[in-house]
Amino acid sequence: MFETQALSGSKPEVYRTLVEQARALLAGEHDRVANAANLSALVFHALPSLNWVGFYFHDGSELVVGPFQGKPACVRIALGKGVCGTAAATRRTLRVDDVGAFPGHIPCDSASRSELVVPLYRGDTLVGVFDLDSPEPARFDAEDQAGLEALAAVFLESLGGAA
Ligand code: SME
Repeated sequence: MFETQALSGSKPEVYRTLVEQARALLAGEHDRVANAANLSALVFHALPSLNWVGFYFHDGSELVVGPFQGKPACVRIALGKGVCGTAAATRRTLRVDDVGAFPGHIPCDSASRSELVVPLYRGDTLVGVFDLDSPEPARFDAEDQAGLEALAAVFLESLGGAA
């Protein structure tokens, strides 16, 4: 059994612990649905002030919702649309302090105020995005971004030779 718990300490310490936990949780498993499901649950329970944590996967043409924690979400997002589709298309993490001010933001949970999306690429191949929403404005800072990008890297490494 894996105990999920809120972590304490400085943000870098929290993320170092979380990365270690994620490595242990995903070790030896290459299935992307299984690993996305477990990583979503780990992060959702470990970090404060989150109302949605999960994955969208690229199906060859657009993003399709994958495993997540939170309220039901929109299913398909075109590349270049919303925060998720923009992060995927630009290959850059997007940190949005105020989703209401982001042109084309796609509201899924009306409680969401800020959002961070990490694009997931293996070389030039888009796997999908790792998306986190918060009910607090400006919930995510540069330390969160670094930590969540490190967790996204653990997920990508866990896929091994599988896609
Ligand atoms: N807000 C996202 C859509 C996904 S939900 O937040 C889960 C967007 O604008 O792409």
